[in-house]
Amino acid sequence: MKQLFAPITLVTLIIFVSCAKKTGPANSSAAEAPKPKATSYTTDVLPLLQARCTPCHFPSKGGNKANFETYATVSKFGAAMLERVQKNPGERGFMPMRNPKLSEAEIATIKKWVEGGLAEN
Ligand code: HEC
Repeated sequence: MKQLFAPITLVTLIIFVSCAKKTGPANSSAAEAPKPKATSYTTDVLPLLQARCTPCHFPSKGGNKANFETYATVSKFGAAMLERVQKNPGERGFMPMRNPKLSEAEIATIKKWVEGGLAEN
């Protein structure tokens, strides 16, 4: 029985060392990778709103509803926007009013922005 310990220990050690070698470089490159930029109003959300919430929410285009044109005014509506774009056409409060529902990707962008803390830039 005692003769078995040495080979078992050796095999265990080889497995351990080879695993450690494989994960080593992968871990260090992950640590060096740049952090993905947070979803922001200026870069990600404003272009989407300009395309899908005009003219109603853009005073410069003649809209008189909640103002999505500036960060100061839009940031109050983050949670309400997310709630409304997740509704389906015909449901009370659905947005964009009288327009097709946003795509999954567009809704995901608004969701990331709201849940990420409504970054401006
Ligand atoms: C055709 C015009 C129109 C379009 C396009 C439109 N909305 Fe609206 N929106 C309205 C009107 C009218 C109201 C006020 C009535 C209500 O609250 O349902 C409103 C209200 C809202 C409110 C509530 C604001 C408050 O004062 O509490 C939110 C949030 C909103 N819209 C989000 C959106 C989003 C997001 C889009 C684009 C994806 C959009 N809307 C596109 C007409 C529009």
